Amino acid sequence: MRYFPGQFITFEGIEGTGKSTHARRLFAFLEENGYPVLFTAEPGGTEVGNQIRSILLHPQTGGIDAITELFLFEASRREHVLQVIQPALQSGRIVLCVRFCDSTIAYQGYGRGLSIEMIQYLNRLATNDLMPDLTLLLDIDPEEGLRRSFHHTSPQELRFEEEFLKKKEILCSIRNGFFKIAAEEPKRFKVVSTIESKEVVFEKIKNCVLSVIQDKKRRNMS
Ligand SMILES: Nc1ncnc2c1ncn2[C@@H]1O[C@H](COP(=O)(O)OP(=O)(O)OP(=O)(O)O)[C@@H](O)[C@H]1O
Ligand SMILES: [Mg+2]
Repeated sequence: MRYFPGQFITFEGIEGTGKSTHARRLFAFLEENGYPVLFTAEPGGTEVGNQIRSILLHPQTGGIDAITELFLFEASRREHVLQVIQPALQSGRIVLCVRFCDSTIAYQGYGRGLSIEMIQYLNRLATNDLMPDLTLLLDIDPEEGLRRSFHHTSPQELRFEEEFLKKKEILCSIRNGFFKIAAEEPKRFKVVSTIESKEVVFEKIKNCVLSVIQDKKRRNMS
């Protein structure tokens, strides 16, 4: 694993769990409190990444081959890591990123049935072995998540939601996949249910992140 002086925090989970909501809130909170912080999201985060994002999320793209889909996510990720995430971490910033490698394992691996080992290999290749310091796995019942997601997502980014509305079992496999990934790395993951109010959930997320930031600071000083 590569070492960088900043902190890398990712938000994972199925559609509508509140990743963007809580990552943005956390960004505002950390910035107000004087932390150097960057907010970003996948797929996207760069010029090329945003073009790839529109292919991946637009309903007109329809059903594409699972490996084609995997390559598109990894291509977006590589640009994102090289151009945005790695430089920010090197300059000591806290990077908050909505979705990263774990989403690819959950969706393309547990959801679409591609080999987990192959995806892990491509994740390592795309990221130069970069791993998050902390991953917040936000969780919600898939029906409720889809309901929330249809309510707030632009019609141009509903490809996955439209697919999962027809095939709810895929979304359940992805959710269980996330739980398996989290169970394999209990130190990196914090699982948070977002069924409670935004305020209650955010308080949990904030406390968890502050303790991870303090821990790393202490370790760096000793
Ligand atoms: N406790 C909660 N935490 C977070 N969001 C909540 C909560 N209760 C209701 N919501 C609503 O659910 C929606 C969550 O949307 P958000 O974009 O944050 O989710 P997401 O996980 O980023 O979804 P997507 O994967 O579709 O982008 C928002 O409209 C938010 O207001
Ligand atoms: Mg979102």
